[in-house]
Amino acid sequence: MSLATDDTTDPDLLLEVRDLQIELMTTNGIVRAVDGVSFHIARGETVTIIGESGSGKSTTAMGVLQLLPADLAVVSGHVRITGLDVLASASAVRKVRGRAVALIPQDPMTALSPVRSIGSQLGEAIRIAGAASGRAAVTARAVRLLEQVHIPDPAAQLKKFPHQLSGGMLQRVLIAIALACEPQLIVADEPTSALDVTVQAGILDLLLELQEQRGIGLLMITHDLGVARLVSDRIHVMKAGVFVESGAVRQIVEHPAEPYTQGLLAAVPTLGAWDETPSTPATTSTDRPEATRV
Ligand SMILES: Nc1ncnc2c1ncn2[C@@H]1O[C@H](COP(=O)(O)OP(=O)(O)OP(=O)(O)O)[C@@H](O)[C@H]1O
Ligand SMILES: [Mg+2]
Repeated sequence: MSLATDDTTDPDLLLEVRDLQIELMTTNGIVRAVDGVSFHIARGETVTIIGESGSGKSTTAMGVLQLLPADLAVVSGHVRITGLDVLASASAVRKVRGRAVALIPQDPMTALSPVRSIGSQLGEAIRIAGAASGRAAVTARAVRLLEQVHIPDPAAQLKKFPHQLSGGMLQRVLIAIALACEPQLIVADEPTSALDVTVQAGILDLLLELQEQRGIGLLMITHDLGVARLVSDRIHVMKAGVFVESGAVRQIVEHPAEPYTQGLLAAVPTLGAWDETPSTPATTSTDRPEATRV
């Protein structure tokens, strides 16, 4: 696999980012929020960008998905999603966003409308994805999606409004909405940072399970090296818009070269033993431990 060519034909390569540069027009002038970032994600892989607040993680994710306002951000470099050059034109990114690639946003309470039922919002995602049409078919698909994210009594939950569900259940709804389009690649921007640790472990476990079942590629954004350690194949450590260190999860966690990474490691309260014999051989990763099942 060569990343040096523009004409990749590797069908397993879901995301290729090369020399990504993002300038933001702020009231204090131009900020180079992302400065020459390169990475790739193949089918079934989880790649994590980790770094302190303001290091440019979300800007990278939003830039890759072309979700930054055009009048505020200048994005350059090379970004291919499932082989399609998404920086080339607005129509190119519309072909893949909400189809081949889906975003799991950080905060369920702001991502979901408080005045519309779960069923209405999930149904809209299903219709947009073209996965089903007609009321009965859409409801059946919504129930199946909620089952897949392990929400109990899905038919009853569809009638509820966001404030009637817990944070963990809402995060599962957001994952179900992301799954509605049967994406090949999921971008998850701090998907568990608003949740307490046991709920967080359940959500991470769910993402890994879905990945193993479907071979989804996952771009995970987090500031938590404990989370990164559980889910990642590769980790890129970001600081002030650049990757200061990149490598396989074990390399970064066990032999961090940069003092900055060592500092992030020191912030993880306890690290349990590595699981040396993963019980899920279907995963493409042989390096990462399993998330705790709760
Ligand atoms: N709308 C904006 N206006 C001005 N500056 C911004 C804006 N959005 C981001 N920035 C700047 O871009 C840089 C990167 O921000 P970004 O949100 O990508 O960081 P992050 O790593 O996702 O942080 P966090 O962990 O807090 O989510 C920061 O210096 C931030 O101040
Ligand atoms: Mg962010």
